[in-house]
Amino acid sequence: QDGMVLGLGTGRTTASFIELLGLRIKQGGLKDIRGVPTSQATEAQALRLGIPLVSLGDTPQLDLAVDGADEVDPQLNLIKGLGRALLREKFVEVHAKKLLIVVDEGKLVNRLGEKVPLPVEIIRFEYQATINWLNTLGCQAEFWTEPDGAPVITDNGNYLARCYFKEGIPNVCALAQALANRPGIVEHGLFLDMASEVVVAGIHGIQ
Ligand code: A5P
Repeated sequence: QDGMVLGLGTGRTTASFIELLGLRIKQGGLKDIRGVPTSQATEAQALRLGIPLVSLGDTPQLDLAVDGADEVDPQLNLIKGLGRALLREKFVEVHAKKLLIVVDEGKLVNRLGEKVPLPVEIIRFEYQATINWLNTLGCQAEFWTEPDGAPVITDNGNYLARCYFKEGIPNVCALAQALANRPGIVEHGLFLDMASEVVVAGIHGIQ
């Protein structure tokens, strides 16, 4: 709606949303919209489309954030961050009154971690020690590298790990707590109790 301050997510799904948002603004269908981007890629896209950007320092409350996700469970808990932007996404989205997630039905799971690994942002210092510790959590944790073997580096200058849980994550709350308490872990991709609403696109329509 006119006048809203929006959190702008990251990924292919959100990129389509931002494209349409930019178009609507350009056509005069929406006025006085401002956005806070969750990655450098989203920032560049918003600037290219002429969507005005603001900072959370000046505008701490977002009316709505819109983002994609990698997995959604029946409680609307999420795995996010396979687009490598989980830290800024979580940081921005906790400032939103409402978080709207848009996915296709292939991302719905009974248990988080069933289909995709959990991404975890870690500090560069002694990163192998952090990977070793992650491997004690009942998963197979790997250091995330580019196809040429170079470390994946986030917008924040950190490294990433991917944690594979064979049958999904048995207790997401306990895992989130353990990760939050561990020095060397900057942030993890479990977004628990954050989504207000999830829009699911499937072959039978939108739910
Ligand atoms: C970005 O870091 C992620 O959290 C994305 O929101 C997620 O990976 C979904 O991306 P796609 O829309 O590209 O599948």
